[in-house]
Amino acid sequence: MHAHGGTRSGDAVPGDEELLARLRAAPVLAGPLPEFDPAAAPDSPGPLFAAWLTDALEAGVPEPQTMTLSTADADGEPSARVLILRGIDSADCAFVFASDARARKGRDLAANARAALTWYWPAHGRQIRMAGPVTALGEDAVRRDFLGRSEAARAAAFTGTVSEPLTGTQEYDRAFRAARALVAAEPDRVPDTHTVYRLRAREAEFFQGRADPFHTRVRYVREGRAWTRTLLWP
Ligand SMILES: Cc1cc2nc3c(=O)[nH]c(=O)nc-3n(C[C@H](O)[C@H](O)[C@H](O)COP(=O)(O)O)c2cc1C
Repeated sequence: MHAHGGTRSGDAVPGDEELLARLRAAPVLAGPLPEFDPAAAPDSPGPLFAAWLTDALEAGVPEPQTMTLSTADADGEPSARVLILRGIDSADCAFVFASDARARKGRDLAANARAALTWYWPAHGRQIRMAGPVTALGEDAVRRDFLGRSEAARAAAFTGTVSEPLTGTQEYDRAFRAARALVAAEPDRVPDTHTVYRLRAREAEFFQGRADPFHTRVRYVREGRAWTRTLLWP
C-alpha cells in the first residue's frame, strides 16, 4: 500500500486478472445501509434529494458536493466529468453548476442543451440520477457565483482556456502568475465565458442499495406541474 496513494513508479502494477480478483474481493453495498420505504417517498423528487443529501452530510460522506455531469455533443458523442454542485432548488428539482462555456461540456451544452447528473454516496448505498434540459443563468447569477470564489480560484479561471491542450506545467505557472496579478488589480472582473448552468430535472431516479440484494429504485417523471412516481425492477 502506498501511504499517500501516489502513482506507482518502480514497483510493478498488478496485471488485469489480479486487479479483477482484488475488485471481486472488495465489498460493495456492504452497509449497514439505511432503510428506504418508497411508499413513504414524497410526491416530488426535490425534497427527497434534499433529505438524502442531508443524510450524506450528517454521515460525513466524503465530498457530497461532487457529482458527475454527463453531456452529449450534436452527434450524440457522450462525455462525463465530476463537478461541484453550486446551487439547489428543491421545490423545482433543479441543480446549478458552473463552468467555462469554451470547455467541452460548455460546447456540448451549446449544441445539445440536455444533460444528466449522477451522485453516488457509498456509505448509504445510494445513487441519485437526474436528467433534463439545461439553461444558462443570467449575469447576476454569474457574478454572484464567480465573485464568491477565492482569489486563487478566480485566478485559475483566467489561466488559459479550459480543455485546450497545454504544453507543460511551466506554461501553466506563467499564466497563473499573470492571472493572479489581473485578479488583484481587478477584483470584480468576471471572465466573459464563466457560465452558470441550471439543470431542471425532467426525470429523477433514487436507488437505495440493499444487502439482500433487492435494491429499491424509484423513478419520478415530470408531468406538467406534477410528478409521476414508479417503482422499477432493480
Ligand atoms: C472534485 C472535482 C470538482 C470539480 N468541479 C468542477 C466545477 O465545479 N466546474 C468545472 O468546470 N470543472 C470542475 N472540475 C473539473 C472537471 O471534472 C473537468 O475536468 C473540467 O471541467 C473539464 O471538463 P470538460 O473538458 O469535459 O468540459 C472538477 C473536478 C473534480 C475532480
